[in-house]
Amino acid sequence: MRVSRKKISLQAVETPDVNISLINPIIQKYQGKKGNLIPVLQGVQSLYGYVPREAFIRLNEEMGLKLNEMYGVATFYAQFRLSPVGKHIIKVCHGTACHVQNATKITEALVTELGVKDGHTTEDGLFTLESVACLGCCSLAPVMMVGNETFGSLNGKKAARVIKELRRNQTQP
Ligand code: FES
Repeated sequence: MRVSRKKISLQAVETPDVNISLINPIIQKYQGKKGNLIPVLQGVQSLYGYVPREAFIRLNEEMGLKLNEMYGVATFYAQFRLSPVGKHIIKVCHGTACHVQNATKITEALVTELGVKDGHTTEDGLFTLESVACLGCCSLAPVMMVGNETFGSLNGKKAARVIKELRRNQTQP
């Protein structure tokens, strides 16, 4: 799902869990090279799971990248996230093959099971629920992925069961 555009305050309030020095190698790699905004942002996201506000500010200060251009790209492309994600990212396919086989019911069941809206993360930080386009395994439709694992031929009940099972495994010592 395309997450709606967000307004981000430019105040440099560094949150404790963002170790901004991690992006130094990315700055070194792309310093002075033009036309690399997307790989830079991809690199940042691969470090944190999203592009933190602090990273935008640092990239602006260190590389001279314009804040409005970075925000423009990060909010235009669905691949970029501007807020932290859960430990498990659940991607429910809403491509054509899955859509016609009731993918909507799967998302609805997961919204109920997780208690969050599509595109959001559970309070415990365990799950982020996302609707996405074709996951490339249409013969298994309807499909969802949790992390790198694919679950096919789903319905709402089965999808909820997968999540229950994952939760159970999390709480076991
Ligand atoms: S449409 Fe869902 S995997 Fe292709």
